[in-house]
Amino acid sequence: MKELVARSLKYQAGTVQVLDQYLLPHEETWHHCTSVAQMTSLILTLKVRGAPLIGLAASLLVAYLAEQGHSKAQLNTAIDELEATRPTAVNLMHCMARLRTALQQQNYAQAVVAEAERLFEEDCALCDRMATLGAQLVEPSDNILTHCNTGALATAGVGTALGVIHHAARQHADIHIWVDETRPLLQGGRLTAYELAQWQIPYTLICDNMAASLMAAGKVDKIFVGADRIAANGDFANKVGTYNLAVLAHYHQIPFYVVAPVTTLDIGCASGAEIPIEQRAESEVTGVSGSFGHCQWAPAQAQVYNPAFDVTPAELITAWVLDTGVYYPQDVAAGVLGTV
Ligand code: MRU
Repeated sequence: MKELVARSLKYQAGTVQVLDQYLLPHEETWHHCTSVAQMTSLILTLKVRGAPLIGLAASLLVAYLAEQGHSKAQLNTAIDELEATRPTAVNLMHCMARLRTALQQQNYAQAVVAEAERLFEEDCALCDRMATLGAQLVEPSDNILTHCNTGALATAGVGTALGVIHHAARQHADIHIWVDETRPLLQGGRLTAYELAQWQIPYTLICDNMAASLMAAGKVDKIFVGADRIAANGDFANKVGTYNLAVLAHYHQIPFYVVAPVTTLDIGCASGAEIPIEQRAESEVTGVSGSFGHCQWAPAQAQVYNPAFDVTPAELITAWVLDTGVYYPQDVAAGVLGTV
């Protein structure tokens, strides 16, 4: 396989390497990943996370195993196991489907490697196109609110919603970002804050429950978020708390944009009601973990509800920023997402 380098994933010196997003921003630790069990564990523990990145990391691992001489049956099993790790982000299923097709070819090892390389390189190009299109929606001195982490850490390129912010800041140096900390796993507070600081884009970190009063005070001009799966009718799943923001934005008449590559579309899902929502461990809500260890604050017997994602209905979305264009409610109602 050729050398491939992204912010949190690379194929270098003959191994797949992933940056541990659980330990960021305090520690930059890279894991060399050589087995399905290891990659599965990295994905389940969100050391590897973000819809596009999960699919790409799993793909590079399958390509590595193909290079190591694993049989077609072993590679099929690897694909099945990796695909079962997280149910909501459809990019993983998209990548695994492309690798399954490559496996049908006579020279399957070479075909799988070439397909994994293509998936990685395509993602960089998709990110750049979304970022360029989305940046045109941003105006000088905008205050933009974002949720979770959708940057270079979550993709092979510059990111989705955060990629838009990255490109917009190059055109308008005076924009400012409100960063939702994004409970329970704090992808905003840990990762988005870290990326914005590295890009030298001014930001302010807030707790998720502060967004409403900021909007009421007129301090949010636009909202950009990513997606883990977009249904044919435009409903989409994203990190839990996204729906809250969409409702608030609607009430306060603030434009609400979702940014995602076509690999996040699932036109087989008629509406958001069909998107499977991952439920996660109670410990993520009863306390918090990171490079500092685990701190539990809730009573040991506390009953917990912990869906990783929620669904935002299409009627709350101002526009869908995909790599193929910016689509408005009338386009989506006319079925455009089934044709891109
Ligand atoms: O659970 P995570 O951290 O993988 O969730 C990530 C998100 O919800 C992102 O917003 C989404 O994957 C889009 S990232 C480009």
